Parts: sequence; structure tokens; C-alpha cells
Amino acid sequence: MKTLWRNAHLTTLAGPGWGAVARGALLVEDARLAWVGAEADLPSGLEVDAEHDLAGALVTPGLVDCHTHLVYAGQRAREFEQRLEGASYEEIARAGGGIRSTVAATRVADDPTLLALAKQRARALMAEGVTTIEIKSGYGLTQADEARCLRVARRLGAELPLTVKTTYLAAHAVPPEFAGRADAYIAAVCDWLPGMHAEGLVDAVDAFCDTIGFTPAQTRQVFDAARALGLPVKLHAEQLSDQGGAALAADYAGLSCDHLEWLSEAGVRAMAASGTVAVLLPGAFYFLRETRLPPVQALRNARVPMAIATDHNPGSSPGLSLLLMLNMACTLFRLTPEEALRGATLHGARALGLGDRGRLAPGQRADLAVWALDHPNELAYWFGQNPCLRVICGGVERSATWP
Ligand code: NIG
Ligand code: FE
Repeated sequence: MKTLWRNAHLTTLAGPGWGAVARGALLVEDARLAWVGAEADLPSGLEVDAEHDLAGALVTPGLVDCHTHLVYAGQRAREFEQRLEGASYEEIARAGGGIRSTVAATRVADDPTLLALAKQRARALMAEGVTTIEIKSGYGLTQADEARCLRVARRLGAELPLTVKTTYLAAHAVPPEFAGRADAYIAAVCDWLPGMHAEGLVDAVDAFCDTIGFTPAQTRQVFDAARALGLPVKLHAEQLSDQGGAALAADYAGLSCDHLEWLSEAGVRAMAASGTVAVLLPGAFYFLRETRLPPVQALRNARVPMAIATDHNPGSSPGLSLLLMLNMACTLFRLTPEEALRGATLHGARALGLGDRGRLAPGQRADLAVWALDHPNELAYWFGQNPCLRVICGGVERSATWP
């Protein structure tokens, strides 16, 4: 099946800069891009099965949300109020709330409920042109509940026109049945991993390395278990304090380190040397009313690729708009609109170990977003509105009435 998309204003991101092509065309062959360029340069005598005129609309690669915690039940609005009354995120977590309150709600929710909730959230992301998302476990924290959440994530990928990559984050918090026994819990987390991997539930392994999470030594144990299975690692690192987590993840050639407000110069250098992506999460920074900024200029200077994601979760980032994250990455972190878009496409894909998407070039997956915009810098400019007109995922257009 060959489909031609013509009369498009392309933003290819294929080289430095936007990669703008004013009157461009894309030839899609099955799920891949076969040809990308100016319409005037299309090979003559081209025969296609279908042709669409995009009337000059902007086309970018489909967006990639490379860090979400989409599978959970319940909400934490009362904690939001408590924080506004002066309690800190750490204090609430230490008092048994925080992640553990979502764990309690998730454990009692049945699979159809978890699936329905996650689907609704995924659809909100997809409506803004998202074609790939990562989903972490981490609100089950028993072998059965972690597996259940990862299966729900896999089902989302099977039932929606969307690529889902799954990440095992059982090392998210110490569950109540292991209270005071974090080392024993980490041993269990490592024991559960091979079975879940054998079931095909795990694409990567993550941990929360922080004062209210796990120590660097415990994180290493989880990463050793991942390495033994050949699984790539990622890390919630340097969110609330500097634990040297980024350098640790870099030691394991980590795909990404995420959050990074407290990242040190040494951490930046380690990430640059290992090719680890810095995933910046302005939603969590904003919602926790953090004041310490991630070292964007140092990351830029060291040429560490920066990705942007929603970090959607009920505790630190309950939003479902990747476009709003682009805006916040610019206003709060001072990224340029071009860096922000690259962060939610090419670099987001790289944070997931995916080299086949995030730019418009022959051989890439045909994941496209079509926008009612004149210029790609508007993607980071507007907020609270959705300029997405059409989405093509793996060469197939999502139905016009979808969702
Ligand atoms: O990415 N920092 C750890 N994990 C999540 C928050 C989890 C929660 O509060 O439920 C994050 O911010
Ligand atoms: Fe997170």
C-alpha cells in the first residue's frame, strides 16, 4: 500500500534546525516513510494507491511521551491541598501517603478498571498527536500487581493505534509489607524481574533513587538484575537531591536519566560520555513547586540530548498534555521551541532506545502529526488548546471521528 501526502509544510527534524520544507510531500509505503522532500522533486510517473492534499498544513513527526506512569487507580487531590497548606512532598511520603496511597488504590482496582482508566488517559495524550508512549509500573509493588499493571500497559498498545513501551519500576517505593526492610524488598524486586521479562512484559528497567526512594547501592542491585537479562535501564535521578544517580545510570549505559533538577557537573559529564538522554519533566517541577532548575545550559554545552515528557502520575504531575510540557520546558527551563519539539520527538524516541522514529526521513516509521499551525514554534507557544488536525500512526490514519 502506497500513500502520498502532499501539499504539506514539513518539519522533518532530520538534520540541524527544523528541517522545513515549504511545499513538501511524504510517500508512505505500508508502515514506513519511503520518500520525503519537496513536492516539486517527487519522482515522475509515481503510482500510488491513495493521495491526500494537506492544504499547506504543518506536519511533524508523531510525538513521543517517553516517561509516564499511566496505569493506576485513585487520585491524590487531598495531598495537593496538604502541600498548599505547607506539607512537603517528602513529608507526605514519609507519613505513608504519596506513592503508597496510589499503590493501595491500584491494588484493589480490577484489571478492566485499570485498563479503562489508562485508556482514557492515553486517548487524551493521543489527541495531541502522540504516537508513542512509555508506561512504567510502580503502583503495584507485589509480583502479581506489578505484572498486572504491565499487562494492562501491553493491552493498551494492542488495542489502541499507538506504540507502548513498558518499563519495570517495582523499585518505586517500599510497600507496607516490607516496611523497614528495603533491602529485602529490593531482593524481591530482582527475583520478580526474570519471570516478567520471560512473559514479554518488560522493555526497560527503572528505579527511584532518592532520599525517599532507594539508595545508589540498592539501585545498582536492580540494574545488575536488568543487565543479567540484557535489559536497558533508566533512572528517576536527582529529582529531590543529588545522589549521584545519573553517574550510576551512565555506568550501566542507561537509556535515560529523568528529572535531574539536582544534577551535578560530574553527572552531566558521565551522561555525555555514555550517550544517556536527559529527560526533563517540567510538569513535576511545576506541580511540586520546585525552585531548583535542571542544568540545561550545562547539558546543552555537553551535547547531552534533552527529551521532554509528561511524567503523568497522580502525585507529582497529574497533567495529560505533552504540548503544555513543551510550553513549560520553554518558559520554566528556557529550552528553545525547537529543542522542546526535538525533546518530544527524536530525543524522546532515543530515551526509549527507538531509532526508527522522531524525524521524517526515508526508512523511518510513518508516525505523523498534522497541525493547524503556520510554524512549528507555535507547538510550544499556544497552551490550553489543541491544534492537532490528524494523526497517522504506522502509516494508518486514526479515524476522523476518533477518539
Ligand atoms: O516521577 N519520583 C517518583 N515518581 C513519580 C511520582 C510518583 C508519585 O508521586 O506517585 C515521579 O515524579
Ligand atoms: Fe516519573
